[in-house]
Amino acid sequence: MTTLYDWKKTIKQAELDQVSELLQAGKLVIFPTETVYGIGANAYNKNAVEQIFTAKGRANDNPLIVHIADFSDLEAITEPATAMEQALMDAFMPGPFTLILKKKAMIPDNVSAGLDTIGVRMPANPIAHALIQAAKIPIAAPSANLSGRPSGTRVADIYDEFDGNVAAIIDGGDTEIGIESTVVKVIDGIPTILRPGKVTPMDIKEVVGVVKIDEHIFKKTEGIVASPGMKYKHYAPQSNCLLVYSDDEEMQIALVNEHLVPNTIVIGFEEHRNRIRCHQFYAYGHKGHEEEISHSIFQLLRQVDQQHPAKIIIEGVKKEGLGLAIMNRLIRAASYQYIEK
Ligand code: TXA
Ligand code: MG
Repeated sequence: MTTLYDWKKTIKQAELDQVSELLQAGKLVIFPTETVYGIGANAYNKNAVEQIFTAKGRANDNPLIVHIADFSDLEAITEPATAMEQALMDAFMPGPFTLILKKKAMIPDNVSAGLDTIGVRMPANPIAHALIQAAKIPIAAPSANLSGRPSGTRVADIYDEFDGNVAAIIDGGDTEIGIESTVVKVIDGIPTILRPGKVTPMDIKEVVGVVKIDEHIFKKTEGIVASPGMKYKHYAPQSNCLLVYSDDEEMQIALVNEHLVPNTIVIGFEEHRNRIRCHQFYAYGHKGHEEEISHSIFQLLRQVDQQHPAKIIIEGVKKEGLGLAIMNRLIRAASYQYIEK
């Protein structure tokens, strides 16, 4: 049985105690973070972690992120960080940032999918923070969505996917950022972005002077990669999807109009609503407001997909700042069907 807790207005202390006990007892709990919802389990409990893979239908070579409440939680789970790793953590934690570090034996191998590293993240969301702190254990948690589906950014979107398969779902309202954390690993002394997010390459460069973006973030890949998540189908609606982008706004509008078929739904800029001759148009935000787009994009992909259109066309954005993360997700949503002119 799944219990739903409504903490949209406030964290309820008596319920917080109940949910912490569920986690300590090895049960699964869905909770909000500032990026997306997570499906969490006691990271020290191998059987609990195993249930996450089952509930999500996740490949067991794809490792989970371990969530902590405070820096003092790190010592039990990872080897000491280098000066550069520490500088990155000081700058971006708590927040939408995951750092890959060498793990200690306390963390079972199924959390790291057999790797000798784990991703560590300290969420800034007050509910996530309170829960991890109250449970007094690190929480292994991937995004709360069935494997391959868009990440959950509100409870209504994921309730049916997990009802009956988790002990509790905490409703904290819509997540603020809407796409998952920036994943970084320091490789040969260079912070390397394995998955782009709200913390941008420029943000990282400002702190430590260097940054690299892994070449796989826009490429379809099946071989050996720095981050196993890069290999998997992601965020994909069931309808046929196309992503289009041009630096020239008029060209972008023309590209969308050119590729319409009957019963196409277009997801794009509010400013383009009256210029695209499609069956239905959904605005993901306004031009120049990437944070509106990241906030709404996964909800929109789910909403649009439920209507089973003949085709979905999504307008792309410049691969810059938060736009880099948005395009990384959209290219995967479109199963690499991407036109840029
Ligand atoms: O914002 C987020 O990061 C959310 C919230 C819930 O914290 N979590 C999340 O987890 O997006 P998940 O499991 O959906 O994505 C984790 C990504 C995957 O692409 C995985 O391959 C990568 O991080 N990853 C995890 N551990 C890793 C490791 N040790 N080395 C390289 N990549 C790792
Ligand atoms: Mg995920």
